[in-house]
Amino acid sequence: MDGGFTLWLTGLPGSGKSTLANLAARELRRRGYRVEILDGDEVRTHLSKDLGFSKADRDANIRRIGYVCKLLSRNGVIAISAAISPYREIRDEVRRDHQRFVEVYVKCPLEKLVERDTKGLYARALRGEIPSFTGVSDPYEEPLNPELVIESARDDSDTSLKRLIGKLEELGYIAKAA
Ligand code: ADX
Repeated sequence: MDGGFTLWLTGLPGSGKSTLANLAARELRRRGYRVEILDGDEVRTHLSKDLGFSKADRDANIRRIGYVCKLLSRNGVIAISAAISPYREIRDEVRRDHQRFVEVYVKCPLEKLVERDTKGLYARALRGEIPSFTGVSDPYEEPLNPELVIESARDDSDTSLKRLIGKLEELGYIAKAA
């Protein structure tokens, strides 16, 4: 069954991956596509409940999400991943497993993330209360060749969504809106 692909959002905690995933899902469904979101926070409450935040555990989490995305996307679904996915090598491994894969780097300066701190996690991480917190005390490896970079501190969510949908149209993964 064709039509499916994986839309892989990667970025620091709080950069806007989940927000963009939800907006994209709504728009794609409105256009008649079948969509599933695999959100890091949610996946960690069931599929990856046993995993923590060591490199090995993060890698396992991303491989699981990648595997589910592969199964969905090859069956005509647009699978959207919204997990930090901090390691380039594992993202590339997941990409290699796919026929159609779109990597989107949701980029935001760390200062903005610390300032916004919607979940209060950066403040806690900076106080040393959360060990190995991505961006503070754990690495985040930026994608080198993502299909798209979304600047979430520069653009509002509507602009970001339009850029994302435009890219999917340009790649020929979705039909151009009439
Ligand atoms: S990933 O590294 O394996 O891709 P994932 O996206 O699933 O991470 O989970 C990230 C979420 O877990 C964050 O949004 C945050 O709410 C929570 N979290 C708890 N501890 C950490 C930590 N040490 N580093 C990053 N996120 C953490």
